[in-house]
Amino acid sequence: MKLIDGKKIAQSLRETLTKEIKTLKAKHNNVPGLAVVQVGDVAASSVYVKAKTKNAKEVGINVFDHHLDENITEKELLDLINKLNTQEDVDGILVQLPLPKNINEQKVLDTIKPSKDADGFHPLNVGKLSIASHNDENLLIPCTPYGVLIMLKELKIDLIGKNAVIVGRSNIVGKPMAQLLVKESCTVTIAHSKTKELQKICKNADIIVAAVGKPKMIKDGWVKEGAIVLDVGINRIQVQKDGKIKNILVGDVDFQEVKNTASAITPVPGGVGPMTIACLLRNTTIAFKNKYT
Ligand code: GUN
Repeated sequence: MKLIDGKKIAQSLRETLTKEIKTLKAKHNNVPGLAVVQVGDVAASSVYVKAKTKNAKEVGINVFDHHLDENITEKELLDLINKLNTQEDVDGILVQLPLPKNINEQKVLDTIKPSKDADGFHPLNVGKLSIASHNDENLLIPCTPYGVLIMLKELKIDLIGKNAVIVGRSNIVGKPMAQLLVKESCTVTIAHSKTKELQKICKNADIIVAAVGKPKMIKDGWVKEGAIVLDVGINRIQVQKDGKIKNILVGDVDFQEVKNTASAITPVPGGVGPMTIACLLRNTTIAFKNKYT
C-alpha cells in the first residue's frame, strides 16, 4: 500500500507558487491579494481560516482578513463582498462556509465577482468547469476536488476508463469532483445517502473518493483489492485512550481496515486537507494572472 502524502504534495505545490509569485512580483510590481471572510466562530472554520491565512502569507500572497460577528445581517455581508469586488488589490475572495442560518449562502456566493472567486463556487465558474476543455489553466476550480485530482495524478497511473465512485454529492466536493474525473475519461458514479447497494457499488470501484462526512463509514468489505482510496472526510470524534477522553480527527474511510486492501490511500489528517489550502492559493494566483491577460 502506498500512503499518499498530502502534506508533502501540498508543500511542493506551495513552493512552486512561491517561485511563481516572486516572478509575478518582478513582472508586475505587485502580488496576489486574498480576502478571507469568516462570519462567527465555528471552531472548524477558525482552524481552516487560520491555516489558509498562514499558508497564503508564506507563499507571498497579501491577506485581507475580515472576521465578522455572527450576528451580522445578510445585507452587511453582501455590502462587504461588493466592496471587495471593486477593491483593486483583492484578487481572490474566500467566504468560509458554513454561514449562519439567517444568511442565504447561495446569494452570497452569487455576489462574489466570478473573476475573484477563489473557491470556484460561483455559478459561472461551476458552469465553466462543466464545459471547459481538458487543459484550461485559467479556470477557478473548487479547491478540495482539484487537490484530490492532483494527488491522483501524482500516482502516475492511467486514469482513462477507470471506474471512479464518488460518495457524496455536495457542491463543494462531490459534483465538481465528478466533472474533473469525467474530464480525465474516468467512468464516474456519484453515490449518496439514498444510493441503493452502496457497498456493492464501491466494491466495483478502481477509485473511491469518500466525501460524505460519516466517520469511518467505508470499511474493508467495500473496497476492491488494489483500489485507490481518497478520503475527503474530516470528522472530529471522541475516543477513550489511557483512561482519558480524547478528540481525534478521522476520515470517512476506516483507514486501519482499508489500508491493506487499497493500493494507495490518503491519511486523515495529512491527506486531502493541506491540498485544499494549497489549491486555494493556486486559484488566487490564477485570478491575479487572469487580470493581466
Ligand atoms: N467549508 C468547507 N470546505 C470549504 C471550502 O473549500 N471553501 C470554503 N469557503 N468553505 C468551506
